[in-house]
Amino acid sequence: TVWAAFARVTATSIRHRSRKPPCHTDAAGSAGGIVIFEQSMKRIVILISGRGSNMQAILEAKLPVQVAAVIANKEDAGGLQTAASLGIATAVLSHKGYPSREAFDADLARLIDSYQPDLVVLAGFMRILSEGFVRHYENRMINIHPSLLPAFTGLSTHARAIQEGVKVHGCSVHFVTPELDHGPIICQAVVPVLDDDTEDTLSKRVLVCEHQIYPQAVRWFAEGRLSVEGNRVRVANHADIQAHSLIVPRD
Ligand code: GAR
Repeated sequence: TVWAAFARVTATSIRHRSRKPPCHTDAAGSAGGIVIFEQSMKRIVILISGRGSNMQAILEAKLPVQVAAVIANKEDAGGLQTAASLGIATAVLSHKGYPSREAFDADLARLIDSYQPDLVVLAGFMRILSEGFVRHYENRMINIHPSLLPAFTGLSTHARAIQEGVKVHGCSVHFVTPELDHGPIICQAVVPVLDDDTEDTLSKRVLVCEHQIYPQAVRWFAEGRLSVEGNRVRVANHADIQAHSLIVPRD
């Protein structure tokens, strides 16, 4: 059964590092009525592979969500310590030693589902995902990518943007579909590419925006404001997007 398989995974390759309650019970400001409020909150699981700065931005944004766990596929992922220090449960499931991508993804899905999330948040989770895994989380898994999709899918997005001479660059939050770095776009942020930009300076400018739009997108999901129609995402009550999302070049 699923649970028997999950128990095997737990015994062999997962290390649970913290089981403290998530910090967002406090963040919701519901000290006197935690249980009732929590039941209406969406549960999220965040997947990381590295430093986890986007994860941290989400954890510190005081969103109306319950962060059920942070899961990494690398046990030296820096974000694990950050999450644990904020009282979030963490787990590691290493992809090493699995005979196939599908086999790893099946165990990963079992682990994720054990936390019963409403939304899976990929925050620098640097794995190509199998089609079955993606379909399992259709319309409930989102990703951030450091480019203005559909431009510059894949790796080295900032270096390629400079190389191509584009004048604007940015980042995108999107629902995940089987094609790599594709799927209905929830929001994007735009930054200028300056004459003296290097990969490093441009990536830092984009990262500041990533930390703004990813928590915002999770909030919209948590508030039930997102709907997907084909490739388009509609955001209910979107006056705030029009007010804040457009950058116009000036002299
Ligand atoms: C971020 O820039 C994110 O957009 C990118 O990895 C970085 C992770 O940083 N993701 C991708 O390239 C996915 N295709 P973080 O661990 O500090 O959030």
